[in-house]
Amino acid sequence: MIYLDNAATTIWKPQQVIDAVAEAMQSMGNASRGVHAGALQAARTVYDTRRKLAHLFHCGNPSNVVFCSNSTEALNTAVNGTIGAKTHVITTELEHNSVLRPLYRLQREQGVCLSFVKADRKGRVDYGEFDKLARENTVAVVCTHGSNLTGNVLDIARIGEIARMHGLLFIVDASQTAGVIPIDMEKMQIGILCFTGHKSLMGPQGTGGLCVREGVSVKPLKTGGTGVQSYRRFQPEEMPVRLEAGTLNSHGIAGLSAAVDYIEAIGMDVIWEREQQLMQRFYQGVAGLENVQIYGDFATWKRAAIVALNIEGIDSNEVADELICTYGIATRPGAHCAPLLHRALGTESQGAVRFSFSWHNTEAEVDEAVRAVQEIAGRI
Ligand SMILES: Cc1ncc(COP(=O)(O)O)c(C=O)c1O
Repeated sequence: MIYLDNAATTIWKPQQVIDAVAEAMQSMGNASRGVHAGALQAARTVYDTRRKLAHLFHCGNPSNVVFCSNSTEALNTAVNGTIGAKTHVITTELEHNSVLRPLYRLQREQGVCLSFVKADRKGRVDYGEFDKLARENTVAVVCTHGSNLTGNVLDIARIGEIARMHGLLFIVDASQTAGVIPIDMEKMQIGILCFTGHKSLMGPQGTGGLCVREGVSVKPLKTGGTGVQSYRRFQPEEMPVRLEAGTLNSHGIAGLSAAVDYIEAIGMDVIWEREQQLMQRFYQGVAGLENVQIYGDFATWKRAAIVALNIEGIDSNEVADELICTYGIATRPGAHCAPLLHRALGTESQGAVRFSFSWHNTEAEVDEAVRAVQEIAGRI
């Protein structure tokens, strides 16, 4: 199989990640639940991973790196834990349902008003809109760093500056960028950064978290055992246990730790360059084809390694089926949990076929994918 569905999850993981998980599964106790060797080893690994992620994202204090199962849980925690009833929030039409659904729920249950920065036909936003939409009761800007449909990357430093000027909390969904595009929470004025471990970070599924800027208070989404302050009736106030009830996925976190080491050793810029080359190679191969419509902005300085396209009026599911059945190429058709962006692109009913590249793909795989698209499009 030629795997070009890396925006969903990266299948290829560094061997050291696999080894770290296997080793952890044979030796780790429960982090912060005891002082025996197994528990201490787990606690040390978890702390060490917080430290590495705090460094990677410029979060400052490692205690403000909170682990959870993926960015969906991180976004639910961030949105529900900071946005009060009857306030106003600015978000965008690029968002994934992991942002939209928590916000729609607050809209329905808490009377929160939502304003959406529009996407144009190339999936681009007008940055001035963030400024124009701010009003007296606005409390937050919640937006994605990279679109999982078009691969367009937003200038979050610019949005962060607008949020700062208006005194708004800036919540960023870095699901498509964490691990491959540098993120500096300090410089970009990010209040809460939500990440997932299993995509570009190349860690195990079931890992992810949120990095909370010092001074930002987040109400816990869940409460329960923390291994500390057991006689208190309420969740401890201090981070990270405030937001981490229940046993952590220490096995997965051990893998995530090894994944961060791997990325640091190779260099994020090297990984990014490689992914861009593969993505551009594919784009060049399909861009001029008759009957092929490509979505997104390819003139920008920075993109995620994604190319979404359609072939004439063929349903995207049919194209993806043919790609896997005839050519052994795995892609992702349909709506990609991005309903508003599909509406903006005019692909609501057809969906789109998303090709997404990892640094482990090869030129030969890309060329095979180009050939497949050429053949399918050529038959029309
Ligand atoms: C932009 C974006 N946000 C959020 C998510 C949710 O990630 P997870 O399923 O790891 O929670 C995804 C996953 O595809 C995504 O692409």
